[in-house]
Amino acid sequence: MTKRGKFITLEGIEGAGKSSHLAFIQGFLQSAGKTVVLTREPGGTALGEKIRELLLDHRNEAMASDTELLLMFAARAQHLAQVICPALARGDWVLCDRFTDATYAYQGGGRGIAHSRIAAMEAWVQGELRPDLTLLLDVPEDIGLQRAGQRSTPDRFERERGEFFKRVRAAYLDMAKNYAARYRVIDAAQPLDKVQKEIQKILAVES
Ligand SMILES: Nc1ncnc2c1ncn2[C@@H]1O[C@H](COP(=O)(O)OP(=O)(O)OP(=O)(O)O)[C@@H](O)[C@H]1O
Ligand SMILES: [Mg+2]
Repeated sequence: MTKRGKFITLEGIEGAGKSSHLAFIQGFLQSAGKTVVLTREPGGTALGEKIRELLLDHRNEAMASDTELLLMFAARAQHLAQVICPALARGDWVLCDRFTDATYAYQGGGRGIAHSRIAAMEAWVQGELRPDLTLLLDVPEDIGLQRAGQRSTPDRFERERGEFFKRVRAAYLDMAKNYAARYRVIDAAQPLDKVQKEIQKILAVES
């Protein structure tokens, strides 16, 4: 029987450095002999990327919080069915830029949706599946937003105020405490090369 691959997620607020470190992590795992599927949320499939566009489009300012939550899980259901579950079953490792913890952080912490409602969706869409390892790139919101602010047009989330991201960050740090076994918190306010070294140390143990 093929050994199931590991499911690694990268979390953190805007500008924490998730996308910046993806290629390095993929390369590190590949040199350890793993086949790595690199993907992201919301998105990761053709259909999911269309849902992502709806979620990020700043013109959709009237979107209700529950619509946002349901769209996140709709994209996730497709992602699991089409990409994540088949890859893990083949024995591939999956490296995902954001996953359900981002829903707890943004739709829960940020928008104020009750944890129990998100947990119900999580159980429905994922069953027992949870990440094996979550790297939380933790950065104060002012630093993260300043980094992300270098980009052209801010998306629907990037238009939120500092207070929103303060709550998102706090929700992430809460989860890191509650799920300490799979969480690794990295101080992402450090220079890129230092952050990368910390990630490397963690992966050396995990892979
Ligand atoms: N440790 C760091 N020190 C300095 N600059 C950084 C650091 N990490 C990332 N950056 C820069 O900040 C910007 C945002 O980084 P990146 O796109 O990786 O963040 P992200 O976490 O993927 O954000 P988003 O959630 O918006 O996708 C990039 O220009 C990147 O080069
Ligand atoms: Mg990114």
